[in-house]
Amino acid sequence: REQQLKRQFEALEQANHFFQQQLRHSSERQRAVHYLQQRGLSGQIAAAFGIGYAPPGWDNLLNHFAAVDNATALLEQSGMVIHNEDKQSHYDRFRDRIMFPIRDVRGRVLGFGGRVLGDDKPKYLNSPETPTFHKGRELYGLYEARKHSNQLDRLLIVEGYMDVVSLAQHGIHWSVATLGTATTEQHLERLFKLVPEVIFCFDGDQAGRTAALRALKTTLPVIRDGQEARFLFLPDGEDPDTLVRREGEAAFSERVTQALPLSEFFFKSLSEDADLSSMDGRARFSNAALPLINAMPGSLLKQMMLDRICEITGLNLDQLGSVIDLHQATSK
Ligand code: CTP
Ligand code: MN
Ligand code: MN
Ligand code: MN
Ligand code: MN
Repeated sequence: REQQLKRQFEALEQANHFFQQQLRHSSERQRAVHYLQQRGLSGQIAAAFGIGYAPPGWDNLLNHFAAVDNATALLEQSGMVIHNEDKQSHYDRFRDRIMFPIRDVRGRVLGFGGRVLGDDKPKYLNSPETPTFHKGRELYGLYEARKHSNQLDRLLIVEGYMDVVSLAQHGIHWSVATLGTATTEQHLERLFKLVPEVIFCFDGDQAGRTAALRALKTTLPVIRDGQEARFLFLPDGEDPDTLVRREGEAAFSERVTQALPLSEFFFKSLSEDADLSSMDGRARFSNAALPLINAMPGSLLKQMMLDRICEITGLNLDQLGSVIDLHQATSK
């Protein structure tokens, strides 16, 4: 089994090498290179992220591996090749796409994200879950961020591959992306082991705002004193890539300094759903807020957020606790 995993890592590395070569040498390379240029990426940044190109065709990768023993099964297990049961054949998963290798912290390629050059759907195709690749764990760009600096003090969490790469292009080398999934507790636990501060920066659209709320709820149960989470909201229609390209690094960094602390985002977003000038609204607000705060590990922040609920409601902790089980509030 060890041996099998090792072969998969080698195959993924070799596939990555092939895609990077195709960006330099394939007959179709011009479109791919032009696409990357038009997105504002230099050859240097593309190389730093190992960006490559899977040319059009159903068997480029398969053919590249022709000399390897059991290549088809190996590529299928690695998520690079798809088995067509009806036709009893295999074909390349990634065709005519810009390839973003996803690496673990040690730099091993685990899988890929592949973007179409135009407007076809799906815009991004990702490697499937494999024995070596678990989307809820991995963060795109973490290896590259750590490689750039071994003394990271914070990380920006963004949605997309291009956000990470484009930020780096503009000198912001400390962002990571979840892989088209929500931020998980596993992600956060990994991040907080590396840095004391994470800043969520999702797209300025409805999906991004929803993702921020979900991230808030995922963060509460894991955040401890000495750790900080903040939330940066972008103007409508922008994502970190479009914004840093439009405004440049200095303006973007200025926005980062304005990111909302977790507790502020918490009270702001919950109070948007309730009229705090009425008793009924304050009760509704507290009923929504208390279970979320209750899920936090014991911390000063938790204590202060509870105090804030007391201020808002005019009730003390005992009174709140008589309705909602707050036994963990002061302990732990
Ligand atoms: N995503 C995905 N599959 C899709 C669409 C999106 O996996 N069909 C993931 C990708 O990781 C993508 C992220 O969700 O980067 C954010 O999606 P979106 O904002 O739509 O894409 P962008 O990253 O902004 O794409 P681009 O700038 O390249 O158009
Ligand atoms: Mn097969
Ligand atoms: Mn989006
Ligand atoms: Mn984008
Ligand atoms: Mn986006």
